[in-house]
Amino acid sequence: MRKKITVVGSGNVGATLAHRLADKQLGDLVLIDILEGIPQGKGLDLLESGPIEGYDVKIKGTNSYADTANSDLVVITAGFPRKPGMSRDDLLKANFDVVKATTEQVVKQSPESILIVVTNPLDAMAQTAFKVSGFSKNRVIGMAGVLDTARYRTFIAEALNVSVQDVQGLVLGGHGDTMVPVPSYTTVAGIPIADLMPKEQLDKIIARTAKGGGEIVNLLKTGSAYYAPSAAVAQMVDAIFNDRKKVLPCAAYLEGEYGIKGLFVGVPVKLGKCGIEQIVEIKLTEAEKAALMKSAAAVKELVDIIGV
Ligand code: LAC
Repeated sequence: MRKKITVVGSGNVGATLAHRLADKQLGDLVLIDILEGIPQGKGLDLLESGPIEGYDVKIKGTNSYADTANSDLVVITAGFPRKPGMSRDDLLKANFDVVKATTEQVVKQSPESILIVVTNPLDAMAQTAFKVSGFSKNRVIGMAGVLDTARYRTFIAEALNVSVQDVQGLVLGGHGDTMVPVPSYTTVAGIPIADLMPKEQLDKIIARTAKGGGEIVNLLKTGSAYYAPSAAVAQMVDAIFNDRKKVLPCAAYLEGEYGIKGLFVGVPVKLGKCGIEQIVEIKLTEAEKAALMKSAAAVKELVDIIGV
């Protein structure tokens, strides 16, 4: 039987994600929003693309959580986006209310689902969904590392004029300015990045990666990125539904791994049919470890404010 996926929020991230999921035929889709007409209109428009694109998944736009019942996976994109000059953290309280209310509805309708959280500030919102849902930690996943790593890989590939496919890297930590790209695990076709690029150049790429979301916000002026964020979620959904056991950086609830306890932070995880099937612990240099702890402290500050 086909899987059922609910996407909460029919804005740019949600609608573009629904488009990607339909193209990949990963499941039947429900697009839900509190705005009347928008999810219905976008859902119908996507459904009508099926005969041309060759997909026959069902797509329904709705304002009613009853339509989301028994979803296998729910992606929460609902919330307010960033405006220029705003940090992801400025969104904290407004989006806490949205994610809390959303999670309560999702749990009622789809108690067995896997949750992927996209709303910012990402790590704190993932923690909100985890605490409100009461789901086991393998079933609540934050999307950020795949996106941040994609930006990092893009900039490296551009600088070296190589295929993005050859660039492997990891960005750990919270999805904020303190995120931690990890040079010691960055390679091009297996060649350590240090052999290919001077440190100063890589440092610039690392700084650009950490501000990658803000760079797009400043260009768009009316919202934040959605093509790469939705691509990141689609890859995570594909890894889960196809039980790929793919190792991807995601925000996961840590209980002592990396010396961090009781907090969502971006780390490499193995994604398969049960969601997060393993938290992969890698060796970090002292500097990388310190940067990760600093990033975790920034997440902890937010989590403490909202009390989750
Ligand atoms: C970004 C937003 C979605 O990084 O956080 O683009």
